[in-house]
Amino acid sequence: MASIELRQVSKIYQNNQYSVRDVDLKIRDGEFVIFLGPSGCGKSTTLRMIAGLESITSGELRINGQNVNHVAPRDRNIAVVFQSYALYPHMTVAENMGFGLKMRGTATGVIRQKVAETAAMLGLDQLLHRKPGALSGGQRQRVALGRAIVREPQAFLLDEPLSNLDAQLRAEMRTELIKLHRRLGKTMVYVTHDQIEAMTMGDRICIMRDGYLVQSGTPLEVYANPANTFVARFLSSPPINLIPCVARVWANGVSLELNDTCRLRVADYAQVDYRRYDGQPVTLGIRPEDFHARQLNANWQPVMFKVTAVEALGAENIVIGTIADIRFVVRLDRHTLPSTGSTITLYMDPDPLHLFDSLTGDVLPRRASPPLAS
Ligand SMILES: Nc1ncnc2c1ncn2[C@@H]1O[C@H](COP(=O)(O)OP(=O)(O)OP(=O)(O)O)[C@@H](O)[C@H]1O
Ligand SMILES: [Mg+2]
Repeated sequence: MASIELRQVSKIYQNNQYSVRDVDLKIRDGEFVIFLGPSGCGKSTTLRMIAGLESITSGELRINGQNVNHVAPRDRNIAVVFQSYALYPHMTVAENMGFGLKMRGTATGVIRQKVAETAAMLGLDQLLHRKPGALSGGQRQRVALGRAIVREPQAFLLDEPLSNLDAQLRAEMRTELIKLHRRLGKTMVYVTHDQIEAMTMGDRICIMRDGYLVQSGTPLEVYANPANTFVARFLSSPPINLIPCVARVWANGVSLELNDTCRLRVADYAQVDYRRYDGQPVTLGIRPEDFHARQLNANWQPVMFKVTAVEALGAENIVIGTIADIRFVVRLDRHTLPSTGSTITLYMDPDPLHLFDSLTGDVLPRRASPPLAS
Protein backbone atom coordinates (compact mmCIF):
# COMPACT_ATOMS: atom_id res chain seq x y z
CA MET A 1 0.00 0.00 0.00
CA ALA A 2 1.49 3.35 -0.94
CA SER A 3 0.03 6.70 -1.80
CA ILE A 4 2.73 9.21 -2.69
CA GLU A 5 2.26 12.94 -2.41
CA LEU A 6 4.60 15.72 -3.52
CA ARG A 7 3.87 19.16 -2.13
CA GLN A 8 5.73 22.04 -3.76
CA VAL A 9 8.77 19.81 -4.18
CA SER A 10 11.87 21.48 -5.65
CA LYS A 11 15.43 20.38 -6.27
CA ILE A 12 18.47 22.57 -6.73
CA TYR A 13 21.83 20.85 -7.28
CA GLN A 14 25.14 22.54 -6.47
CA ASN A 15 24.97 24.58 -9.67
CA ASN A 16 22.15 26.66 -8.09
CA GLN A 17 19.71 25.93 -10.87
CA TYR A 18 16.29 24.40 -10.38
CA SER A 19 16.13 20.87 -11.75
CA VAL A 20 12.64 20.33 -10.35
CA ARG A 21 10.39 23.20 -9.41
CA ASP A 22 7.30 23.39 -7.17
CA VAL A 23 5.92 20.01 -8.16
CA ASP A 24 2.52 19.22 -6.65
CA LEU A 25 1.28 15.71 -7.31
CA LYS A 26 -0.86 13.13 -5.53
CA ILE A 27 -0.36 9.54 -6.62
CA ARG A 28 -3.10 7.21 -5.40
CA ASP A 29 -2.38 3.82 -3.91
CA GLY A 30 -2.15 1.32 -6.78
CA GLU A 31 -2.01 3.98 -9.47
CA PHE A 32 0.25 3.61 -12.54
CA VAL A 33 1.67 7.07 -13.24
CA ILE A 34 3.90 8.00 -16.17
CA PHE A 35 6.41 10.86 -16.12
CA LEU A 36 6.90 12.05 -19.68
CA GLY A 37 9.08 14.83 -20.99
CA PRO A 38 12.20 15.70 -22.98
CA SER A 39 15.75 15.01 -21.83
CA GLY A 40 16.78 17.09 -18.82
CA CYS A 41 13.26 18.10 -17.74
CA GLY A 42 13.62 16.58 -14.25
CA LYS A 43 11.96 13.15 -14.53
CA SER A 44 14.78 11.11 -12.99
CA THR A 45 15.44 13.72 -10.33
CA THR A 46 11.79 13.59 -9.23
CA LEU A 47 11.89 9.80 -9.15
CA ARG A 48 15.13 9.77 -7.18
CA MET A 49 13.66 12.17 -4.62
CA ILE A 50 10.66 9.84 -4.18
CA ALA A 51 13.06 6.91 -3.70
CA GLY A 52 15.16 8.90 -1.23
CA LEU A 53 18.28 8.66 -3.41
CA GLU A 54 18.36 12.45 -3.78
CA SER A 55 17.66 15.02 -1.07
CA ILE A 56 14.73 17.42 -1.41
CA THR A 57 15.74 21.10 -1.50
CA SER A 58 12.32 22.40 -0.49
CA GLY A 59 8.80 21.10 -0.20
CA GLU A 60 7.40 17.96 1.29
CA LEU A 61 7.23 14.33 0.25
CA ARG A 62 4.58 12.19 1.90
CA ILE A 63 4.14 8.45 1.66
CA ASN A 64 0.86 7.18 3.07
CA GLY A 65 0.32 10.59 4.62
CA GLN A 66 3.64 10.59 6.53
CA ASN A 67 6.39 13.11 5.82
CA VAL A 68 9.39 11.06 4.62
CA ASN A 69 11.75 13.90 3.61
CA HIS A 70 14.40 12.53 5.94
CA VAL A 71 13.59 8.83 5.85
CA ALA A 72 16.45 6.68 4.44
CA PRO A 73 15.79 4.90 1.11
CA ARG A 74 15.85 1.41 2.65
CA ASP A 75 13.15 2.43 5.14
CA ARG A 76 10.79 3.67 2.41
CA ASN A 77 10.28 0.14 1.06
CA ILE A 78 10.21 1.35 -2.52
CA ALA A 79 11.96 -0.54 -5.32
CA VAL A 80 13.72 1.30 -8.13
CA VAL A 81 14.55 -0.18 -11.53
CA PHE A 82 16.88 1.88 -13.70
CA GLN A 83 17.64 1.86 -17.39
CA SER A 84 21.07 0.37 -16.62
CA TYR A 85 20.02 -2.58 -14.50
CA ALA A 86 23.33 -3.54 -12.89
CA LEU A 87 23.11 -7.27 -12.22
CA TYR A 88 25.95 -9.00 -10.40
CA PRO A 89 27.80 -10.81 -13.20
CA HIS A 90 29.25 -13.58 -11.01
CA MET A 91 25.86 -14.54 -9.53
CA THR A 92 23.19 -16.69 -11.15
CA VAL A 93 19.76 -15.32 -11.98
CA ALA A 94 18.36 -16.90 -8.80
CA GLU A 95 21.15 -15.39 -6.66
CA ASN A 96 20.69 -11.97 -8.26
CA MET A 97 16.97 -12.05 -7.59
CA GLY A 98 17.31 -13.23 -4.01
CA PHE A 99 20.27 -11.02 -3.07
CA GLY A 100 18.26 -8.23 -1.44
CA LEU A 101 16.33 -10.67 0.72
CA LYS A 102 19.56 -12.47 1.72
CA MET A 103 21.07 -9.16 2.83
CA ARG A 104 18.01 -8.64 5.04
CA GLY A 105 18.55 -12.02 6.67
CA THR A 106 15.49 -13.74 5.17
CA ALA A 107 15.53 -17.54 5.62
CA THR A 108 16.97 -19.49 2.66
CA GLY A 109 13.78 -21.54 2.15
CA VAL A 110 11.64 -18.41 1.98
CA ILE A 111 14.03 -16.80 -0.50
CA ARG A 112 13.97 -19.89 -2.70
CA GLN A 113 10.18 -19.94 -2.72
CA LYS A 114 9.76 -16.24 -3.50
CA VAL A 115 12.38 -16.35 -6.25
CA ALA A 116 10.68 -19.39 -7.79
CA GLU A 117 7.24 -17.74 -7.72
CA THR A 118 8.52 -14.50 -9.22
CA ALA A 119 10.58 -16.30 -11.86
CA ALA A 120 7.48 -18.22 -12.93
CA MET A 121 5.51 -14.97 -13.19
CA LEU A 122 8.21 -13.42 -15.41
CA GLY A 123 8.94 -16.51 -17.51
CA LEU A 124 12.42 -16.86 -16.04
CA ASP A 125 11.99 -20.26 -14.40
CA GLN A 126 14.14 -22.07 -16.97
CA LEU A 127 16.96 -19.55 -16.58
CA LEU A 128 17.48 -19.48 -12.82
CA HIS A 129 20.92 -21.13 -13.00
CA ARG A 130 22.32 -18.94 -15.77
CA LYS A 131 24.63 -15.99 -15.22
CA PRO A 132 23.62 -12.54 -16.62
CA GLY A 133 26.29 -12.79 -19.35
CA ALA A 134 24.32 -15.67 -20.89
CA LEU A 135 21.02 -13.76 -21.09
CA SER A 136 19.45 -11.54 -23.74
CA GLY A 137 18.74 -7.87 -23.00
CA GLY A 138 15.06 -8.57 -22.39
CA GLN A 139 15.83 -11.48 -20.07
CA ARG A 140 18.24 -9.32 -18.06
CA GLN A 141 15.60 -6.65 -17.84
CA ARG A 142 13.15 -9.17 -16.44
CA VAL A 143 15.73 -10.33 -13.87
CA ALA A 144 16.14 -6.71 -12.73
CA LEU A 145 12.36 -6.44 -12.40
CA GLY A 146 12.22 -9.78 -10.61
CA ARG A 147 14.85 -8.60 -8.15
CA ALA A 148 12.56 -5.67 -7.34
CA ILE A 149 9.40 -7.80 -7.14
CA VAL A 150 10.74 -10.42 -4.69
CA ARG A 151 11.35 -7.66 -2.15
CA GLU A 152 7.58 -7.04 -2.12
CA PRO A 153 7.98 -3.26 -2.01
CA GLN A 154 5.01 -0.99 -1.46
CA ALA A 155 5.75 0.88 -4.71
CA PHE A 156 7.86 0.53 -7.85
CA LEU A 157 9.77 3.36 -9.49
CA LEU A 158 10.91 2.52 -13.01
CA ASP A 159 13.29 4.87 -14.81
CA GLU A 160 13.24 4.20 -18.57
CA PRO A 161 13.62 0.48 -17.93
CA LEU A 162 12.98 -0.53 -21.53
CA SER A 163 15.12 1.95 -23.42
CA ASN A 164 17.96 -0.54 -24.00
CA LEU A 165 15.69 -3.00 -25.76
CA ASP A 166 14.87 -3.28 -29.45
CA ALA A 167 11.44 -2.18 -30.68
CA GLN A 168 9.83 -5.63 -30.66
CA LEU A 169 11.07 -6.58 -27.21
CA ARG A 170 10.01 -3.18 -25.93
CA ALA A 171 6.49 -3.76 -27.15
CA GLU A 172 6.42 -7.20 -25.50
CA MET A 173 7.80 -5.90 -22.21
CA ARG A 174 5.32 -3.04 -22.29
CA THR A 175 2.46 -5.54 -22.33
CA GLU A 176 4.17 -7.60 -19.60
CA LEU A 177 4.51 -4.57 -17.35
CA ILE A 178 0.86 -3.63 -17.78
CA LYS A 179 -0.13 -7.17 -16.80
CA LEU A 180 2.29 -7.12 -13.89
CA HIS A 181 0.79 -3.91 -12.58
CA ARG A 182 -2.69 -5.42 -12.75
CA ARG A 183 -1.54 -8.55 -11.01
CA LEU A 184 0.43 -6.89 -8.20
CA GLY A 185 -1.87 -3.88 -7.79
CA LYS A 186 1.08 -1.83 -6.49
CA THR A 187 1.73 1.85 -7.05
CA MET A 188 4.04 2.34 -10.03
CA VAL A 189 5.80 5.44 -11.28
CA TYR A 190 7.31 5.00 -14.72
CA VAL A 191 9.64 7.44 -16.45
CA THR A 192 9.82 7.54 -20.21
CA HIS A 193 10.22 9.89 -23.12
CA ASP A 194 8.47 7.43 -25.39
CA GLN A 195 5.05 8.68 -26.41
CA ILE A 196 3.59 5.24 -27.11
CA GLU A 197 4.62 3.92 -23.70
CA ALA A 198 3.07 7.01 -22.12
CA MET A 199 -0.22 6.70 -23.98
CA THR A 200 -0.66 2.97 -23.46
CA MET A 201 0.75 2.00 -20.08
CA GLY A 202 -0.41 4.33 -17.36
CA ASP A 203 -3.59 5.45 -15.62
CA ARG A 204 -2.23 8.96 -15.76
CA ILE A 205 0.46 10.92 -17.60
CA CYS A 206 2.43 13.73 -15.94
CA ILE A 207 4.18 15.89 -18.50
CA MET A 208 7.28 17.75 -17.34
CA ARG A 209 9.16 20.65 -18.88
CA ASP A 210 12.18 22.54 -17.49
CA GLY A 211 11.56 21.11 -14.01
CA TYR A 212 7.87 22.02 -13.92
CA LEU A 213 4.97 19.61 -13.99
CA VAL A 214 3.06 21.10 -16.91
CA GLN A 215 -0.04 18.89 -17.05
CA SER A 216 -1.36 15.66 -15.62
CA GLY A 217 -4.39 13.60 -16.56
CA THR A 218 -5.43 10.34 -18.18
CA PRO A 219 -3.65 9.77 -21.50
CA LEU A 220 -6.76 10.47 -23.55
CA GLU A 221 -7.68 13.55 -21.49
CA VAL A 222 -4.26 15.09 -22.03
CA TYR A 223 -4.30 14.14 -25.70
CA ALA A 224 -7.73 15.69 -26.22
CA ASN A 225 -7.11 18.79 -24.09
CA PRO A 226 -3.45 19.79 -24.17
CA ALA A 227 -2.72 22.68 -21.81
CA ASN A 228 -0.30 24.35 -24.22
CA THR A 229 1.58 23.94 -27.48
CA PHE A 230 4.40 22.07 -25.72
CA VAL A 231 2.07 19.28 -24.55
CA ALA A 232 0.23 19.26 -27.88
CA ARG A 233 3.53 18.85 -29.74
CA PHE A 234 4.81 16.19 -27.36
CA LEU A 235 1.74 13.98 -27.73
CA SER A 236 1.50 14.03 -31.50
CA SER A 237 3.44 12.01 -34.03
CA PRO A 238 4.11 13.43 -36.54
CA PRO A 239 4.01 16.72 -34.59
CA ILE A 240 0.79 18.72 -34.47
CA ASN A 241 0.51 21.51 -37.09
CA LEU A 242 0.86 24.85 -35.28
CA ILE A 243 -0.13 27.71 -37.57
CA PRO A 244 -0.19 31.42 -36.72
CA CYS A 245 -3.49 32.99 -37.80
CA VAL A 246 -6.07 35.60 -36.85
CA ALA A 247 -9.50 34.80 -35.38
CA ARG A 248 -12.33 36.79 -37.05
CA VAL A 249 -16.07 36.90 -36.63
CA TRP A 250 -17.88 36.84 -39.99
CA ALA A 251 -21.57 36.61 -40.83
CA ASN A 252 -21.39 32.80 -40.71
CA GLY A 253 -19.44 32.69 -37.44
CA VAL A 254 -15.83 32.59 -36.24
CA SER A 255 -13.19 31.66 -38.78
CA LEU A 256 -9.43 31.49 -38.61
CA GLU A 257 -7.70 33.55 -41.22
CA LEU A 258 -4.48 31.75 -42.12
CA ASN A 259 -3.69 34.24 -44.89
CA ASP A 260 -5.48 36.23 -47.63
CA THR A 261 -6.70 33.12 -49.40
CA CYS A 262 -7.37 30.64 -46.60
CA ARG A 263 -10.03 30.70 -43.91
CA LEU A 264 -11.07 27.78 -41.73
CA ARG A 265 -14.33 27.92 -39.84
CA VAL A 266 -14.18 26.70 -36.23
CA ALA A 267 -16.59 23.94 -35.16
CA ASP A 268 -20.14 24.86 -34.14
CA TYR A 269 -19.68 23.79 -30.53
CA ALA A 270 -16.68 26.16 -30.13
CA GLN A 271 -18.25 29.20 -31.84
CA VAL A 272 -19.52 30.85 -28.66
CA ASP A 273 -16.24 30.44 -26.79
CA TYR A 274 -13.98 31.64 -29.60
CA ARG A 275 -16.02 34.75 -30.45
CA ARG A 276 -14.15 36.77 -27.86
CA TYR A 277 -10.85 36.39 -29.78
CA ASP A 278 -12.19 38.42 -32.71
CA GLY A 279 -9.30 40.23 -34.37
CA GLN A 280 -6.63 38.56 -32.22
CA PRO A 281 -3.56 36.71 -33.49
CA VAL A 282 -3.77 33.11 -32.26
CA THR A 283 -2.04 29.80 -32.97
CA LEU A 284 -4.11 27.09 -34.58
CA GLY A 285 -3.24 23.52 -33.55
CA ILE A 286 -4.50 20.71 -35.74
CA ARG A 287 -3.10 17.19 -35.72
CA PRO A 288 -2.02 15.35 -38.90
CA GLU A 289 -4.70 12.67 -38.36
CA ASP A 290 -7.52 15.23 -38.49
CA PHE A 291 -7.26 15.54 -42.26
CA HIS A 292 -9.07 12.92 -44.31
CA ALA A 293 -9.21 11.87 -47.93
CA ARG A 294 -12.98 11.28 -47.84
CA GLN A 295 -15.68 13.42 -46.30
CA LEU A 296 -17.43 11.24 -43.73
CA ASN A 297 -19.12 14.12 -41.94
CA ALA A 298 -20.87 17.13 -43.44
CA ASN A 299 -18.98 19.60 -41.21
CA TRP A 300 -15.54 18.45 -42.38
CA GLN A 301 -14.13 21.30 -44.47
CA PRO A 302 -12.64 20.75 -47.92
CA VAL A 303 -9.13 22.19 -48.44
CA MET A 304 -6.88 22.08 -51.47
CA PHE A 305 -3.67 20.36 -50.48
CA LYS A 306 -0.56 20.57 -52.65
CA VAL A 307 1.67 17.54 -52.05
CA THR A 308 5.40 18.20 -51.65
CA ALA A 309 6.59 14.89 -50.14
CA VAL A 310 5.16 11.49 -49.26
CA GLU A 311 6.40 9.03 -46.66
CA ALA A 312 4.71 5.70 -47.41
CA LEU A 313 4.95 3.73 -44.16
CA GLY A 314 2.93 0.71 -45.24
CA ALA A 315 0.20 0.98 -42.62
CA GLU A 316 -0.37 4.68 -43.37
CA ASN A 317 1.04 7.56 -45.41
CA ILE A 318 2.54 10.70 -43.93
CA VAL A 319 2.09 13.43 -46.50
CA ILE A 320 3.80 16.82 -46.37
CA GLY A 321 2.40 19.67 -48.38
CA THR A 322 0.81 23.09 -48.37
CA ILE A 323 -2.64 24.61 -47.97
CA ALA A 324 -2.67 28.16 -49.39
CA ASP A 325 1.16 28.10 -49.35
CA ILE A 326 1.27 27.20 -45.64
CA ARG A 327 3.07 23.99 -44.71
CA PHE A 328 1.01 21.17 -43.18
CA VAL A 329 1.72 17.55 -42.40
CA VAL A 330 -1.18 15.14 -42.73
CA ARG A 331 -1.62 11.47 -42.02
CA LEU A 332 -3.62 9.51 -44.55
CA ASP A 333 -4.78 5.91 -44.68
CA ARG A 334 -2.70 3.46 -46.71
CA HIS A 335 -5.19 3.49 -49.58
CA THR A 336 -4.58 7.17 -50.21
CA LEU A 337 -1.14 7.57 -51.75
CA PRO A 338 -1.00 10.88 -53.64
CA SER A 339 1.93 11.65 -55.91
CA THR A 340 4.40 14.42 -55.21
CA GLY A 341 3.47 17.63 -57.02
CA SER A 342 -0.24 16.77 -57.25
CA THR A 343 -3.03 18.80 -55.66
CA ILE A 344 -5.71 16.85 -53.83
CA THR A 345 -8.84 17.70 -51.87
CA LEU A 346 -8.66 16.83 -48.19
CA TYR A 347 -11.32 17.28 -45.52
CA MET A 348 -10.40 18.82 -42.19
CA ASP A 349 -12.35 17.77 -39.11
CA PRO A 350 -12.71 21.03 -37.12
CA ASP A 351 -13.84 19.32 -33.87
CA PRO A 352 -10.39 18.44 -32.47
CA LEU A 353 -8.88 21.80 -33.42
CA HIS A 354 -7.26 23.85 -30.63
CA LEU A 355 -6.43 27.52 -30.34
CA PHE A 356 -3.41 28.68 -28.37
CA ASP A 357 -2.24 32.08 -27.19
CA SER A 358 0.21 33.24 -29.84
CA LEU A 359 2.67 34.58 -27.24
CA THR A 360 2.54 32.15 -24.30
CA GLY A 361 1.44 29.01 -26.17
CA ASP A 362 -1.20 28.34 -23.47
CA VAL A 363 -4.47 26.90 -24.71
CA LEU A 364 -7.26 29.45 -25.15
CA PRO A 365 -10.01 28.20 -22.90
CA ARG A 366 -13.28 26.96 -24.28
CA ARG A 367 -16.00 25.62 -22.05
CA ALA A 368 -17.74 23.43 -24.59
CA SER A 369 -16.32 20.02 -25.53
CA PRO A 370 -16.40 18.43 -28.95
CA PRO A 371 -19.44 16.22 -29.51
CA LEU A 372 -18.68 12.53 -28.92
CA ALA A 373 -17.62 10.69 -32.06
CA SER A 374 -20.60 8.94 -33.61
N1 LIG B 1 23.92 15.53 -9.96
C1 LIG B 1 23.54 16.60 -10.66
N2 LIG B 1 24.17 17.80 -10.50
C2 LIG B 1 23.78 18.89 -11.18
N3 LIG B 1 22.78 18.91 -12.07
C3 LIG B 1 22.11 17.76 -12.28
C4 LIG B 1 22.47 16.54 -11.59
N4 LIG B 1 21.62 15.57 -12.01
C5 LIG B 1 20.79 16.14 -12.92
N5 LIG B 1 21.09 17.44 -13.08
C6 LIG B 1 20.38 18.40 -13.96
O1 LIG B 1 19.01 18.44 -13.57
C7 LIG B 1 18.17 18.51 -14.71
C8 LIG B 1 17.19 17.36 -14.67
O2 LIG B 1 17.90 16.15 -14.82
P1 LIG B 1 17.17 14.75 -14.85
O3 LIG B 1 18.23 13.69 -14.83
O4 LIG B 1 16.16 14.69 -13.78
O5 LIG B 1 16.46 14.80 -16.28
P2 LIG B 1 15.59 13.71 -17.03
O6 LIG B 1 14.27 14.31 -17.30
O7 LIG B 1 15.62 12.42 -16.29
O8 LIG B 1 16.36 13.58 -18.42
P3 LIG B 1 16.70 12.26 -19.32
O9 LIG B 1 15.46 12.01 -20.14
O10 LIG B 1 17.83 12.74 -20.17
O11 LIG B 1 17.06 11.14 -18.42
C9 LIG B 1 19.09 18.50 -15.93
O12 LIG B 1 19.26 19.82 -16.35
C10 LIG B 1 20.39 17.94 -15.40
O13 LIG B 1 21.49 18.47 -16.09
MG1 LIG C 1 16.45 10.53 -16.68
